[in-house]
Amino acid sequence: MKLTAVVGARPNFVKIAPVLAALAQYPDVRTTLVHTGQHYDSNMSGGFFTELEIPRPDINLGVGSGSNALQTANIMLQLAPLFAADSPDLVLVVGDVNSTLAAALVAAKTGIPVAHVESGLRSFDRTMPEEVNRILTDSISDYCFTTEAAGNENLAHEGVPAGRIHFVGNVMIDTLVRFRERASRSTVMDDLGVTAGAYAVLTLHRPGNVDDPETLAGLLAGIHVVQRDVPVIFPVHPRTRQQLQRLGVVASRELRLIEPLGYLDFMQLMSGAACVMTDSGGIQEETTVLGVPCLTLRCNTERPVTISVGTNRLVGLDASAIAAAWNDIRDGRWPHGRIPELWDGRAAERIAKVIVR
Ligand code: UD1
Repeated sequence: MKLTAVVGARPNFVKIAPVLAALAQYPDVRTTLVHTGQHYDSNMSGGFFTELEIPRPDINLGVGSGSNALQTANIMLQLAPLFAADSPDLVLVVGDVNSTLAAALVAAKTGIPVAHVESGLRSFDRTMPEEVNRILTDSISDYCFTTEAAGNENLAHEGVPAGRIHFVGNVMIDTLVRFRERASRSTVMDDLGVTAGAYAVLTLHRPGNVDDPETLAGLLAGIHVVQRDVPVIFPVHPRTRQQLQRLGVVASRELRLIEPLGYLDFMQLMSGAACVMTDSGGIQEETTVLGVPCLTLRCNTERPVTISVGTNRLVGLDASAIAAAWNDIRDGRWPHGRIPELWDGRAAERIAKVIVR
């Protein structure tokens, strides 16, 4: 069996690592790994391949940055001849980035079955490019691998036949389980001069939060209440860096702007945090498993289990909601959360079994 896996952006790498490792257990499966090059800086891409022991991509398309349309189109133009020449039996995509949709579209139109890992998640907010990527990718996928019950329900509601839906668990958590011990040896807290429980972590990169200077400035004002009590460590995504420079935001003792961290350092930093404030999807899941309070700086989430079972709360962009959440954390009124069903480190094994069968 010939399988081609396509990845492009930082969260994809965390998700594909366990799937490739699980598929490697089956000698009859020949896997080709294509990196679209959507992310290309070493701290957004290469470093993750090394740390997570992902095989070197067989092909890197080097598409780089650009508008949603340009990025998606460039990936499609380059993948079409590749798929035509190699005729894989299955194309596997993960997550919800532009590379995910581009690869799924080309495969479907070439008549190649598509497997989508992390299928069925919906924020019901089509202003997010990811939501459009999710809906379209799922609608042309033959294998929909889901992480939580809401994913199964969303797909069923959209008319996806039950036979295509496979509830397997969460591959991002497979990676966390596998590397947690290694991450615990990271010296990141010492390096930053912080102690466990006495700092917060912030990440921001959604276009809806960072592209408009007024929105971003409002968000930063909202987290002041946390900064007053503990230093906030802010590894800055490249998209956000440009906007912070424009706003004239500079690093301070209270708001520590640092470069994006590698996987192991970031896991360890989150593990010791009093809370994590984020607009990322994956971080809502990781904090749930780490048992760390998560304040999601968005009005919706496509990962509702992190709220119903885990440690996540939606605070939107609202300063008073952030302040109320921070009070609850300091007063010990935050749920410890439980581990969602099948987030047990074995999702990729289940995926590989389905694919091989
Ligand atoms: C992309 C995904 C988003 C995901 C995020 C994770 C889409 C639509 N968005 O958003 O779902 O959560 O990745 O990080 O696919 N840049 C660099 N170096 C890099 C990559 C990007 O400097 O290695 C800069 C460029 O200026 C670029 C900007 O970051 O224009 C945004 O990159 P892009 O890939 O367009 O989207 P992300 O915001 O990273």
